[in-house]
Amino acid sequence: MAGWDACTGRGKQHAGPSIGAFAFGLAQLYFALFVVLPALRKRGAPAPAKTWEGAEGLEWEVASPAPFHTFGAWAFASAWIDAILSPMRTLPLPLGGRMPVLGLGTWRMGEERGRRRAEVAAVRAAIEMGWRLIDTAEMYGEGGAEEVVGQAIAEALRTGDVTREELFVVSKVYPHNASRKGTPAARARSLARLGLDHVDLYLLHWRGEHALAETCEAMRALADGGRIRHWGVSNFDTEDMEELAAVCGEPLDCAANQVYYSVGERGPEFSLLPWQRSRAMPLMAYSPIDQGALASDAALKKMAQRLGVTAAQLALAWVIAQPGVVAIPKAVSETHLRDNLAAADLQLSVEDLAEIDRLHPPPRRRKPLAMI
Ligand SMILES: NC(=O)c1ccc[n+]([C@@H]2O[C@H](COP(=O)([O-])OP(=O)(O)OC[C@H]3O[C@@H](n4cnc5c(N)ncnc54)[C@H](OP(=O)(O)O)[C@@H]3O)[C@@H](O)[C@H]2O)c1
Repeated sequence: MAGWDACTGRGKQHAGPSIGAFAFGLAQLYFALFVVLPALRKRGAPAPAKTWEGAEGLEWEVASPAPFHTFGAWAFASAWIDAILSPMRTLPLPLGGRMPVLGLGTWRMGEERGRRRAEVAAVRAAIEMGWRLIDTAEMYGEGGAEEVVGQAIAEALRTGDVTREELFVVSKVYPHNASRKGTPAARARSLARLGLDHVDLYLLHWRGEHALAETCEAMRALADGGRIRHWGVSNFDTEDMEELAAVCGEPLDCAANQVYYSVGERGPEFSLLPWQRSRAMPLMAYSPIDQGALASDAALKKMAQRLGVTAAQLALAWVIAQPGVVAIPKAVSETHLRDNLAAADLQLSVEDLAEIDRLHPPPRRRKPLAMI
């Protein structure tokens, strides 16, 4: 208490720093880090690009806390502030906002009542561990997975483990629902199951019978109304993306394309990934562990052992080492959840990446997009 006296000028003087001064210093540091810097970033951040001509590579470097890059001092400071404020690396989205590079998949959840409690506990544990992006869809368990996610989020919000703003929730509309009227109706059902007033990203699950122009119009209307933050697509190959851009018009506000991409399925690298990078549009890699198969890939296991990690971690670290790529592994096992989250901190060297190229070579020619 003597320190507080010194701080107010009452009582005896102290030679060393008082508890009050220390607390004041801490408060100042907190204020600078969590109030002033984020506010400055908001004001000073580059305006969302209206067109992405020449954007190739630029935005991705902003997301990386590498010390030197073309975006200059602003991006350097921004990336490091990011690293301090949020433990998970994030990627910028074409129209502003950011997406974590690692998210939790939920396919196969919500399919059986008997597994519901364990699945909610798994998603709940994931949030507690630090997972912030959750990927789901109306298709998964016919809404069951969205209910699992909704229940886990509700509990996490109630206990104060996380705020809604810290989460990035992705859901998807069935193609047969993706009409002008069907899209908002499906979105409303998803929101009810999730117990949320908006999703951060809403994707067309794959191309179906409805014209892209209708889906695009419906998605834009939802985004304008604030019930979805961003919209995007899934299972779109390069020609589909080009058609989307032509139909929706430029600048294309599609925020992401979610496709099958992993060490074992590198097809998107040939033309789709470069196309998306040229527009600073993240590619969300689904089945990044090849549905669990890469965890027992003999060659990967050998390399992983040498690096002191697991083959699944190596496979995930490789996916998110690709500029502009987000990985969304699914897991319910607590060990898997922890291992996968830790993969976000693995730094692969140029030699490691070259070794993976030898084990699982990049594509030499174009082939149709693989789907699961
Ligand atoms: N847009 C689309 O069309 C589409 C298609 C497919 C998937 N997706 C999305 O992408 C997500 C991920 O894809 P996915 O579920 O197909 O496959 P995945 O994430 O590649 O693999 C999931 C499987 O791997 C196991 N696993 C997870 N971490 C592991 C680890 N560290 N070591 C060993 N095994 C591990 C899981 O087991 P446990 O569950 O027992 O832990 C599960 O059986 C889906 O859940 C879904 O959200 C989207």
